[in-house]
Amino acid sequence: MTQEQNQTEKHKPEYILVSVAWPYANGPFHAGHIGGVYLPADTFARFQRANGNYVLMVSGSDCHGAPITLRAEREGVTPLDVVGRYHASFIKTFETLGIEFDLFTKTYTENHYAVTQDIFSRLLQRGYLFKKTEIGAYSASLNRFLPDRYVEGECYNCHYAKARGDQCDNCGILIDAPKLIHPYNTIDRGEVTFRDTEHYFLDLAKLEPALLKWVNGEGHKDYWRNNTLTFTDNWLKDGLHERAITRDLDWGVPVPVEDPSFKDKRIYVWFDAVIGYLSASKEWAQRQGEPTAWEKWWTLDEEGRSPGKSYYFLGKDNIPFHTIIWPAMLLGYGDLALPYDVPAAEFMNLEGEKMSTSQNWALWLPDIEERYQPDALRYYLTAVAPETRDSYWSWADFVSRVNNELVATYGNLVHRVLTFTYKNFEGQVPRPGELDQSDKALLTEREAAFARVTELLNAAHFRDALKEVMALATTANRYLDEKAPWKSIKTNRETAATSLYTVIQVINTLKVLTYPFLPYSAEKLHSYLGFEGGNEQSGTYSGKAVEGVIAIPATARWQIEEIPAGQVLRSPEALFIKLDDKVAEEELQRLKANANRL
Ligand code: MF3
Ligand code: ZN
Repeated sequence: MTQEQNQTEKHKPEYILVSVAWPYANGPFHAGHIGGVYLPADTFARFQRANGNYVLMVSGSDCHGAPITLRAEREGVTPLDVVGRYHASFIKTFETLGIEFDLFTKTYTENHYAVTQDIFSRLLQRGYLFKKTEIGAYSASLNRFLPDRYVEGECYNCHYAKARGDQCDNCGILIDAPKLIHPYNTIDRGEVTFRDTEHYFLDLAKLEPALLKWVNGEGHKDYWRNNTLTFTDNWLKDGLHERAITRDLDWGVPVPVEDPSFKDKRIYVWFDAVIGYLSASKEWAQRQGEPTAWEKWWTLDEEGRSPGKSYYFLGKDNIPFHTIIWPAMLLGYGDLALPYDVPAAEFMNLEGEKMSTSQNWALWLPDIEERYQPDALRYYLTAVAPETRDSYWSWADFVSRVNNELVATYGNLVHRVLTFTYKNFEGQVPRPGELDQSDKALLTEREAAFARVTELLNAAHFRDALKEVMALATTANRYLDEKAPWKSIKTNRETAATSLYTVIQVINTLKVLTYPFLPYSAEKLHSYLGFEGGNEQSGTYSGKAVEGVIAIPATARWQIEEIPAGQVLRSPEALFIKLDDKVAEEELQRLKANANRL
C-alpha cells in the first residue's frame, strides 16, 4: 500500500505546526532544555509524520537580548561571535540526538528582520501600538540606557547600600528605581541618572476582548496542561496592560518608523523572538522554492478557521508569551492561526538539587552526548521528563533504567526472538500453525496498546505513552517465557513457529511504537525484520536540521502491519549497549569536579 492510499483510508492528513521555543544562543543546551522541550517536540513531530500528517517543525537561535550582549561583553567579542558559537553547538546536539527540524534558523536573518518589521508596521497601522514617554536609567559611562536590574543604589526605605533597581533584598520593598540614593550601574559601577525616553507599547488592553474570547472560547481548558492554564489565568486575572516593545539598545531589529529619535532604539527581544515561528515558516517555504507554502499551516480560511493545529513546546517560564502576547499579536495582525496547544515543561533538577548554571551544577549536552547511544539518552530523558511536575536526572537512575528497561525488557525481547528465529528457521519469519487463545490474547493486547499509545501521543503525554510501549514489551516477554519456544521446538516445531510468528508481529508493532522515541533502534530493527528503505533521516543524519522537508518515514507507518511468514530476516545484533555499573559513579564524580560550589 502506498503512503497516499494509506492516508486516504485512515484519515485526511492534517497540517501540524510544531513550534519550539527559540533558545538564547548564549550557552549550550542542558538536560532540562532537551528533556523538557526539544525532545518532546521531536517525538511529537515524528509521531505526527508517521501518522501521515503534514508536519512543519521550526525554531532557531534567539540572537538578541541581554543574555547575548552580556555574554559578548564579558568575553570581549561581538554578539554575532557568541551567536555563531552556540548556534553550532545547538545543531550538533540536534544531530547527535536525532532531533530533526524542518528548519532551525536564527533571528539574525534578513527574512526575520523583514517579517518582524512587517508585523510591527501592521500593528501600528491598525492602532494596536502607541508611543509613550517613560523614565529610563541612563549610564553616561556606558553611554546607554540600562534595564532596572542592572541598577543598584542605596535603599530609600532602610538605607541598605546595595538595593536592586527592582527590589530591596534587605527590607523587601519593591523599588522605584529613580528614587534610589546614589544609583550606579552593576556593569562598571558608573553613575546612573534617570532620563525621559520614548517607546512603543503593545496595546494589550485593546486586544483583551478578542484574546479572552479565544482563551475561553475554544475548549483549551479541556486539554491544556495545568501549568499552562495556571500561568495564563494568573496573568489574565490582573487585567492586561500595555507592554513596551522597544528598548534603548543597538542590538536587535531596527524600529521601522521615520522618527529619527528611534534610530538608536531596537525592537524588544521578546517581541521579535515569538515572531520567529512565522518568519522561520516563511524562510522554510522560500528554501523549498515555494514561497507561499507556509500558508498551509498559518492562513485562516474564509470562515476564520485554522488550517490545522499549532503546537508550541516550551519551558514554563515562557508560557504567557505564548498564550497571551503572541496570540494578541496574531489577533491584531489578523488572518493567522493561533496556538492550539502549548505543552510547557516544568524544571529538571540534577541529582536531587536544583540545576544552577552559575555554580555549573548542570548537565551540559555537549559534555555527555557522545558517550551514550542517542536512544539511551532519549529513553531516559523521556522517562524522567519534567512533563507535569519538576523531575530530576540521576546518573544511578540513568544506568538502572537503561539496563533494566531498555536493555533487559525491550532489547532482550527483540534479541532473543530474532536470534533464535534466525538460527532455527532459516532466517525467515516462521509459518504459524493455528493460533491458540494466548497467541490471540497477545495480538489483542497489542491492538489495545497501540490505541492507547496513539491517544497519549496525540495528547502530548510522552511519559505515559512510553510507559505503555514498555508495558507491551513486558507482556510480550511474559508470553515468551510461558511459550518457551526454545523448549517446544524440540517436541513440536509448529508450536514453536506459531509462538515466534506471533511475538514477531508484536515486535514489528513495537518498532512502530518506539519510533517517535527511539528512532535509531527502530531503524535497525526495521532492517533486522527484513524491510528495505528505512527512514534515512534517523541514523544517517543529513543536515536536515538546517533545511529541507522531512519525508514521512518508511520505518514506521503508524499502523499495525503484518509481517508475512517467509519474510527474510537480516542477521540481528543487540539494539542497545548495556552500561557498566561504574558509569554512574564516574559521571557523578565528573559533575562534582566541574561544579564550582562552596
Ligand atoms: N529565548 C527565550 C528563552 O530562552 C525563549 C524564546 S521563545 C520564543 O527563554 F518563542 F519567544 F522565541
Ligand atoms: Zn531596603
